[in-house]
Amino acid sequence: MEKKITVLPGDGIGPEVVTAAVEVLQAIAKKYNHIFHFAYGAIGGTAIDQFSDPLPQQTIDLGEESDAILLGAVGGPKWDNNPSELRPELGLLRIRKHFDLFSNLRPVQAIPSMLKSSPLKEDIVKNVDLLIVRELTGGLYFGERHRTHDEALDSLTYTRPEIERIVDNAFKLARLRRKKLTSVDKANVLDTSRLWREIVEEKKASYPDVEVEHSLVDSTAMKLITDPSSYDVIVTENMFGDILSDEASVITGSLGVLPSASMRGDHFGLYEPVHGSAPEIAGKGIANPAATILSAAMLLNYSFELAEEAKAIEKAVAAVFEKGYFTGDMAPKGTTALSTNDWTEKVIAEIDASFVRE
Ligand code: NAD
Ligand code: IPM
Ligand code: MN
Repeated sequence: MEKKITVLPGDGIGPEVVTAAVEVLQAIAKKYNHIFHFAYGAIGGTAIDQFSDPLPQQTIDLGEESDAILLGAVGGPKWDNNPSELRPELGLLRIRKHFDLFSNLRPVQAIPSMLKSSPLKEDIVKNVDLLIVRELTGGLYFGERHRTHDEALDSLTYTRPEIERIVDNAFKLARLRRKKLTSVDKANVLDTSRLWREIVEEKKASYPDVEVEHSLVDSTAMKLITDPSSYDVIVTENMFGDILSDEASVITGSLGVLPSASMRGDHFGLYEPVHGSAPEIAGKGIANPAATILSAAMLLNYSFELAEEAKAIEKAVAAVFEKGYFTGDMAPKGTTALSTNDWTEKVIAEIDASFVRE
């Protein structure tokens, strides 16, 4: 198979974790006889520095010409006081909107070898296998906004079609899993949430095999860490999904292992870790590349339908954890933490011991 992947390293630890994921993809290409062409583009703070634009047209063009996008992370203190139209994060919001990537899939799986890295009790996290389906192109992130010296407005709007497509998507995903859907909202306060809940209720009839529950976001935040194994698929709006997915990383022990896929309903997608640019550890070579490597596995699975190759990456990552190798964010007390490079080397060796890195 021959495919084009746009690679957007971004800022902070972005380039470090993306380099690791590209090396893993190269090892997969070699082992399974595929050709992956990688085309590099700028996004975020680095793009602001180079092009005075967090999402330059060249980057959009690269994405248009490719089969999938792999992204690191954007943002950092250097640009934190920039005017809102010149913020790195805007590059990310614009690329999601441009490609209509409305469905952000954030799986959270606690594999046994990770359990000791979680601050939660082992019996709470041991059977967790959940999927957060986050609406990604609507809500507060894309509402009307306005700012004067003494007043600021961020408005939260959702339309029926925007909610219907993400809810349908979540029902279909639940069908492929344990057939339980938790819709998270704040229907006791917000009209957008009441509309959301109404639509979930309407859609329920089309998916009689899926068990549905509604859950308010505040108590869901509590239950997600006291009883995480009770969830299968969680569907929620943009902002709630952002917050709940970082919270869910506590289950696995680190934000550094949570991957994500942002999809528009066909095979095209943007794949990125859930975490950000972690500026305080950037450039040190110690970032955990697992989330980006697992995002690359989602890319193979969803965009290229290479399920076996995706599985090979997931198995390699699990095997490396199983053998007790961790980066600093996860290494149990008293054990030696591996660098980003050395940890990636272990994953590649699991995939294909004969692969030689350049
Ligand atoms: P963050 O996710 O960058 O970091 C949160 C904490 O997790 C930090 O302690 C960090 O060191 C740690 N961490 C994150 N990823 C890690 C990894 N792979 N390995 C080891 N440790 C890791 O969130 P933040 O500090 O709130 O934000 C920093 C910047 O990142 C901000 O500018 C923010 O806007 C941006 N951000 C970008 C994205 C994205 O590009 N998708 C996502 C979230 C935050
Ligand atoms: C994420 C990030 C982004 C978001 C920011 C950087 C715009 O936190 O991908 O989770 O809030 O969506
Ligand atoms: Mn986030």
